[in-house]
Amino acid sequence: MTSYTTSDIESWERFYRANFINTLTGFKSVNLIGTVNELGQTNLAIFSSIVHIGSNPPLVGYINRPVKAAQHTLANIQASEVYTINHIHPSFVEQAHQTSAKYAAGISEFEEVGLTPEFRENISAPFVKESSIKYALTLQQIIPIELNDTFLVIGKIIAIQVDNNVVSEDGFLQLDKAASICSNGIDGYYTTELIKRYSYVKFDIQSLKIS
Ligand SMILES: Cc1cc2nc3c(=O)[nH]c(=O)nc-3n(C[C@H](O)[C@H](O)[C@H](O)COP(=O)(O)O)c2cc1C
Repeated sequence: MTSYTTSDIESWERFYRANFINTLTGFKSVNLIGTVNELGQTNLAIFSSIVHIGSNPPLVGYINRPVKAAQHTLANIQASEVYTINHIHPSFVEQAHQTSAKYAAGISEFEEVGLTPEFRENISAPFVKESSIKYALTLQQIIPIELNDTFLVIGKIIAIQVDNNVVSEDGFLQLDKAASICSNGIDGYYTTELIKRYSYVKFDIQSLKIS
């Protein structure tokens, strides 16, 4: 095993450091976020920092990079206050990856990469038709992270669409059945396989016994 220190990390070339640190935190839920601008033009971009905030109310967050690096999704969410999050499957992983390119404002990544926008009643943001698991959110809070000029964007889920075969009797979504992929760093994509589901572990502090 090799040990690395702060001075090692600081000495690394920037792409090496980015790859190393981006992959160190493990596999990520990777998704496409669909938005619309004030002119009604659609935008689609790939994001892997999606995080569960809470289930009641159903809150989901993601980290948006500094405005100068990734501005369209954030600006559209601020303006319209609605967006969609769409799982990615192996059949369109290449197109999904391509949405990370810096397209000019007003150019729709849907058209550029060949994915299909799909609209639902009362939701102005586009879903990705090709995705088997997708949901819409309304903006709740944008928290600026001063440490590195990024933003934690938190939304509340208002609509969900999921393929029937994925939903278990107890509500657990078996994502491997839909072949939802995950990512590692900014260019590695993986399929997944369920190892096992375990029963809920109750922790009894009094007797320090796990049952
Ligand atoms: C696998 C992968 C994951 C990414 N995850 C994020 C992320 O979590 N947050 C972010 O701001 N950008 C992320 N990006 C970069 C954005 O996709 C990229 O900046 C994109 O151009 C943003 O588009 P927009 O300006 O239309 O919002 C990721 C890129 C890739 C390839």
